[in-house]
Amino acid sequence: MRVGILTGGGDCPGLNAVIRAIVRKGIVHYGDSIVGFYDGYRGILENDWIELDVESCRGILPRGGTILGTSRIQPYAFSDGVERVKLRLSEMGVDALIAIGGDGSLGAARDLHDDGVKIVGVPKTIDNDISATEMTFGFDTAVQIATDAIDRLHSTAESHHRVMVVEVMGRHTGHIAIRSGLAGGASLTLIPEYPFDIEAVCNSVNRRHREAKKYATIIVVAEGAVPKEGTLKLPDAEIDEFGHVRLGGIGQRIADEVHARTGYETRVTILGHVQRGGTPTSFDRVLASRYGVAAIDAVHHGKFGEMVALDADQIVSVPLHEATGKLKLVDTELYDAASQFFS
Ligand code: F6P
Repeated sequence: MRVGILTGGGDCPGLNAVIRAIVRKGIVHYGDSIVGFYDGYRGILENDWIELDVESCRGILPRGGTILGTSRIQPYAFSDGVERVKLRLSEMGVDALIAIGGDGSLGAARDLHDDGVKIVGVPKTIDNDISATEMTFGFDTAVQIATDAIDRLHSTAESHHRVMVVEVMGRHTGHIAIRSGLAGGASLTLIPEYPFDIEAVCNSVNRRHREAKKYATIIVVAEGAVPKEGTLKLPDAEIDEFGHVRLGGIGQRIADEVHARTGYETRVTILGHVQRGGTPTSFDRVLASRYGVAAIDAVHHGKFGEMVALDADQIVSVPLHEATGKLKLVDTELYDAASQFFS
């Protein structure tokens, strides 16, 4: 078979491991030829691609980012986008497509399948918010990066008796925040699923800093965290060209308010894209490789319109319709466990 691969949406560690696994099993085991489209769906729409072989994928397993590049361009943003995708694939003799992406790219994959394209999805995002899978690759690395940062912030916070607000990624969900907050021993973790009360946050800071031995506070906040209605005014969020809200600023807003209300010295660290860069953890390398192998198997078993997924440490496949459209939120058991350490 001739199989196309694309990587879409925000990049994340492990993308290259998926590409390498598809190429390796596709060529060596199935005798496929593999085409890599540059910058996600843009590469199909604009006829920008490369022939991939085992040699071109050597050494990429530990490399962050994606050798194919990525973008948030979607075929459905163009009136003739779907027709262009179908025409291009048939002209190139591409029998099937593997889309490695988050909710946006997988939503487009779902719709393309409904429109007659043979496509399989692979769940990617550091946010871990894709439904119907226990884990997306890239998430473990992001949590580790955030945890390392929180560990480092402890010593400087304690030395200066400061409040440290650490803003991590998570536009709509708090998976990175809740896990790194728990792993890093945060005093409070604020996530979109549980709107926060700034008064309660300040009470907690006051309480901790009045106690002689607890005179530093680490607050982890997901970039998409929201205050309880009517409790704290936030500036209007910007919308990017793809209709996604551009966040990054809630940490500063909280820090300003904590300082104004408690008088304690407060500093902010916004981890931002550091969480998406660099080498994947071994967990992500393994998960991404397993997803890649399963994706090319799915193509050969005709499981189109499906996404490979993790279920009880087994790789399974689920309908793209089940995986997209509704984000996976932080589990209440995990939140309850983490909140036992809030103080
Ligand atoms: O979707 C992954 C993500 O990293 C989000 O956590 C974050 O809000 C967004 O992408 C940032 O997007 P960009 O790379 O366009 O700034």
